[in-house]
Amino acid sequence: MQAFTYRNQILHAEDVSVEDLAETYGTPLYIYSRRKFLQQLKGLQQAFAAVDPLICYSVKANSNLSVIKTFSEGGAGVDIVSGGELFRARRAGVDASKIVFAGVGKTSAEIEAALREKIRFFTVESEGETERIAQCAVRLGTVGRIAFRVNPDVDPQTHRYISTGKQENKFGMDPARVREAFKRAVAMPGVEPVGLHMHIGSQILNPDPFVEAIRKVTPLCRELRDKYDSFKTLDIGGGLGIGYEPDDQPLEPTALAERLVPLLQELDLQIVMEPGRYLAGEGGILVTRVQYVKDSYHKKFIVVDAAMNDLLRPSFYQAYHPIAAVRETEKTVLGDVVGPICESGDFLAQDRTLPNVPANELLAVHCAGAYGFTMSSNYNSRPRAAEILVDRNQARVIREREKLDDLIRGEIMED
Ligand code: LLP
Repeated sequence: MQAFTYRNQILHAEDVSVEDLAETYGTPLYIYSRRKFLQQLKGLQQAFAAVDPLICYSVKANSNLSVIKTFSEGGAGVDIVSGGELFRARRAGVDASKIVFAGVGKTSAEIEAALREKIRFFTVESEGETERIAQCAVRLGTVGRIAFRVNPDVDPQTHRYISTGKQENKFGMDPARVREAFKRAVAMPGVEPVGLHMHIGSQILNPDPFVEAIRKVTPLCRELRDKYDSFKTLDIGGGLGIGYEPDDQPLEPTALAERLVPLLQELDLQIVMEPGRYLAGEGGILVTRVQYVKDSYHKKFIVVDAAMNDLLRPSFYQAYHPIAAVRETEKTVLGDVVGPICESGDFLAQDRTLPNVPANELLAVHCAGAYGFTMSSNYNSRPRAAEILVDRNQARVIREREKLDDLIRGEIMED
């Protein structure tokens, strides 16, 4: 299913006109397709059905309560990385037994909150963290289930900022350390080591790094499984990429499953997956209105009302997001799409063939459902965008546009 299609030359989100939504709710505006979200989840569930994985949606990709609820209703659990995400997930009604908690720097307060909720497990990144979870659990008279994060040292062939499974990355522990830490944890009060975790990076379009990583941890999995009854789970993380650029070959879940399922079946463990971008990315657009079209030296700048504070990925990772006119046009122009923020790095596209649209027209920035709103900020005192969830011909505001008062909430003016 295509979430965003043209009907009578106007871009629609499912059955709702994007132009109408922009008129009603203003711009910049995030619009999501509920059916697309669920379709992605279903595709993954079906592709991996042979190992019956627990798919834990990675909330950092898009943490709006309604988005979390959508995936939860589709049968997913969640992968969280903070007390804030735990709070959101519980508010959205996610069953605690389907919550896994990752991250290198969990505080005692976050650990205790998760222990009280009785989450499925913590993924643990260091010996220090194991001890801290154990201490917190003993204090609360409970036991924390933990899965050690292995750093398998594979190259995920992605942007260096989103590579996480190489030796030089801060994430995980090398296999020899994990073996020792697991052994010690078995004897420790307050923790129950239940498995291993890995997450090698994000926006991965090639199955090979996943295959390599699983192959690398297989001997350790077998060894620990045979030695310890509590060892039951392998969490293979997220990282499945989507097709941002015209030349990107999307990673089809069936193609990935074909390579991974035989390896996973052989392990005979409960499999957990933590996709974020794959589930949420393609189901979202950022709609922005052109303010000015400006010629400068040899370049054309399309100045829009969305900026790096709304969608950081182009500025931060030089990420490519497809950009299309909401009112279909064949006319193109070479140039940049830039925002109003006072930084040269404030662009949504650079040196690209773009739709040639005049001021006041709308543009849609595609593949913005993941790491879009969640990475947005108030930089330059810009209120954050509204978010809309579309389901067939229904559109609901799932986050109101921030108001000026929201910008100063919590600030205290000196006498
Ligand atoms: N699990 C863990 C432990 C993670 O650290 C991440 C993402 C995921 C799962 C989900 O990864 P995904 O399936 O979405 O690739 N802001 C960056 C992406 C950062 C990803 C961080 N970790 C971007 O906009 O590309």
